[in-house]
This record gives sequence, C-alpha cells and structure tokens, in this order.
Amino acid sequence: MHYAKPNPENSIDRAMLNAIKGSVEKKPIEVEARKRHPLLVNNSGFLKEMAGQQLKSIADIVALHIRKLGPLLPVLHDVQAEFGFIDAAKESEIAQVLNLSRAEVHGVVSFYHDFLSAPDPRPEVQICRAEACKARGVEGLMAAGEAAAGKRVRLKTVYCLGLCSAGPVARVGNQLHIRLDADRLTQVIEQS
Ligand code: FES
Repeated sequence: MHYAKPNPENSIDRAMLNAIKGSVEKKPIEVEARKRHPLLVNNSGFLKEMAGQQLKSIADIVALHIRKLGPLLPVLHDVQAEFGFIDAAKESEIAQVLNLSRAEVHGVVSFYHDFLSAPDPRPEVQICRAEACKARGVEGLMAAGEAAAGKRVRLKTVYCLGLCSAGPVARVGNQLHIRLDADRLTQVIEQS
C-alpha cells in the first residue's frame, strides 16, 4: 500500500509524526492528517507505515501473550492492530510460533469479523442492528448511513454494543455514539 510520504518540513505532517510518537495530543492531529491523507485510518499499522516506522514482529507480539491461557485471540487482536490485516502468511507464522496448525488459526480468523484478510485503509463505523436497536429504529437509518459512508467508510453491522437502552448505537474506534437519528449518524460517519 503506497501513501504520500510525510514531509517533515510540513507542520501537519510533522505534528502527525509527533502524534504517532505520543508526544502531543493525538485526536485533532489525526483529523488534520486525514484531510491531507484521505486514506488514513484508525490503524497503527498504516500510521507507522506512513511514518516509515518499524512494525512489531509477530514473534514480538506472541512473546507478549505466550504465558496466557489461550494466547491465540489476544495475539490475533494485536496482529490485526499492528498490521491492519491477517493474511495467510501471517496465519502460518502465528501457527508456527504457537505450535498450532494453520487450519486452527485460520478457523479463528475467519470466524470473527474483526479480523481482515487484506489491508483495508478505510475508517470503520460499526452500527448495531441487534433487537433493541432495531426496536429503536436503526433499520430506518441505514439508507442515510450508507449514503454518508459511500466508498470512503466501511460500515460494519454488529450485534449489540452494550448500550441497548440508548440505541440506536454506533461505534467509531473506542467511541460510542448513542440515540442516533439519521442526521446524527450521517455526522458520525462524515467525521470518522
Ligand atoms: S441491541 Fe444495540 S446496543 Fe444492544
């Protein structure tokens, strides 16, 4: 995946690089960075790749979890967060380090929708379409949501985000948005 390399002479790019290093508050910088790099996402792998930073190796990630009971899921979450996807080569590498078969790893990767098999740099907006949110009208918002998302944003249906009494609910990164109507959902998607 190729992006315009950050230019250290440019203040926004410089601020973005600082944000990645954690030296300044991140959120407003990411918003500005996205204006310059529309494919930028909430994904440390892509951010690091843009900044030319070294990604953690799978062996490093496995080492963080190897003493846990059932290390596979936390390893997969960290690999997804670090690289943005888990393809066949990564499945094989994880299987080898954890002494599992690749089929076992692939079975888990393909079961959970959180894991992507190929890079997808679009921001993701999760929309709950489980029963309580349905009863509160989420289905009537989907046309507006899809129109706002277009091809820029990946809309993902999920089933319960744990705030059933305040639906319809959407999530962007770690942020939950509650009591959505069509206008608010459109706003959430446009700002993602
Ligand atoms: S049903 Fe939507 S948050 Fe629980």
